[in-house]
Amino acid sequence: MSDPYFQKLFADRIGGANYGKGTAIYKFEKIKRAKRKALADHPERKLLDFGIGENDAMAPEIVRRRMAEEINRPENRGYADNGPPAFKEAVARFMQREYGVVLDPASEINHCIGSKTALAMLPACFINPGDVTLMTVPGYPVAGTQTTYSGGIVYKLPLTAENEFLPDLDSVPADVLQKTKLLVLCYPNSPTGKTASPEFYKRAIEFAKKNDIVIIQDAAHATLSYDRPPNSFLTIPGAKDVGVEVHSMSKAFDMIGWRIGWVCGNERIVRAFADVKDNYDSGQFIAIQKSAIVGLDDPEIPHRTRAKYQRRLEKLVATLQRCGFQCKMPGGTYFLYAPAPRAFANGGPGGTRVDFENAEAASQYLITEQSICTVPWDDAGAFLRFSATYEADNEAGEDALMAETEQRLKNIQPEF
Ligand SMILES: Cc1ncc(COP(=O)(O)O)c(C=O)c1O
Repeated sequence: MSDPYFQKLFADRIGGANYGKGTAIYKFEKIKRAKRKALADHPERKLLDFGIGENDAMAPEIVRRRMAEEINRPENRGYADNGPPAFKEAVARFMQREYGVVLDPASEINHCIGSKTALAMLPACFINPGDVTLMTVPGYPVAGTQTTYSGGIVYKLPLTAENEFLPDLDSVPADVLQKTKLLVLCYPNSPTGKTASPEFYKRAIEFAKKNDIVIIQDAAHATLSYDRPPNSFLTIPGAKDVGVEVHSMSKAFDMIGWRIGWVCGNERIVRAFADVKDNYDSGQFIAIQKSAIVGLDDPEIPHRTRAKYQRRLEKLVATLQRCGFQCKMPGGTYFLYAPAPRAFANGGPGGTRVDFENAEAASQYLITEQSICTVPWDDAGAFLRFSATYEADNEAGEDALMAETEQRLKNIQPEF
C-alpha cells in the first residue's frame, strides 16, 4: 500500500515520515498478544493474570448511587472547566483528614481528568527545548514523553535494590543540573513498591531549592501504603515552595475508568497547570466530580482498599517465596516487584531447562507456556511486576489462585 500524501507531515515527536512503519512492539501490546495466544493455545488452562494494573472492583456503591442521581440533574450538563469549587473543597477536607495537609481549595487545588493527564500537562508549564526533566526508572513514563514532545530531554535516575529504590540525586552531573527544571518523583513507587520517608522528601526539597528545580510528586498510589502510614510530600516543610503533588481516585477508590484526580500544592504551579489544562480539556463531567465527593468524604473507602491489597500482596509474597523468589512485602502500591528468574530448570519440553537473557524473555515464557501473566522491567535490573489486582470473588478464590500459581511455578523450578 502506498503512503498517503500526509505521511511526510507527521511530527518528528511520533516518528516523522517513518510514523507507523516501525516493527518494534510496545511492551504492553506484546503482553496482550501473548495473552491472546495463551488463551487460544490452552483454553483448558486458567490464565493467572498478574499483569493488569487496574483495580478489579467497581467503584463503591455510594459513589455509583450518587452518579445515578447526578447524571439526571440539568445543572450538571455543562462544561466544568477548572471548577466547580465543591470538588476542590472535598479534596481539601480529604488532604487534611488523611495526611494533615492544609490547602486553600480555591488556589492550591485543581482537578484533572485522571492523574495521567496532569502528568502529561505539567511539563508544558515548564519545559522549553533543551530543558531537562529528571525521571526515575523504572517508572510511569508520561511526564518524560511529554518533556520530549516539548523538545526537552529526559535524564534517567535508576531505582535499584542497591539504592533502596530511591534516586541518587547527587549523581546528576553539574551540566545536566544546570539545564534541569523538573524532578518527577513517584511514591509509593510504581512499579518498585517503595515508599518515601519524610527524610527522603526533605533531601529532595533541599536539592530542588539548591538547584532551582520544581518537584512533581506522583501520588497516584498514595493511600496504598503498608510499611508506614500513608504520607504526603506536602507535609514536609518547604514542599509547597518547590512543587505540587498529583493525586488520583483510580486506585484507592476503585474509580479507574471514571477519570478523576487532582493537582495540589504550590499556588503558582497549580495556576499554571490550570491555564495549560484549559487549553486541553473543558473539565471532568460535573456529575462525576459530585459523585467523587461522596467517595472523598467516606474515610472507610481508602482504608478498605488498602486492607484488601495488603492482604493479597502478603499472600502473593508468601507464595512466590515458597517458589524461590527473593521478594518481600512491598511498602506500598498494589504491585510486587520481584527479581526475574534466570531460568526454569524444568521448563522446557521433556523437563529440559530454559534460560532467559532478561525479564522480558522470562515474562513471555510465563505467559505463553504457563499462562501466568506478569509485566517485565529491564530498565534497572531484570524484574517482574506481579499485580494484586487479579480477579477473585472472595478470599477463598484468592487462596485457590495462589495455590494454582504455586503449583505451576514449583513444577518448572525457577532459578535466580
Ligand atoms: C504511578 C502512576 N501514576 C499515574 C497513573 C495514572 O493514573 P490515573 O490517570 O488513572 O489517575 C498510574 C496508573 O497506572 C500510575 O501507576
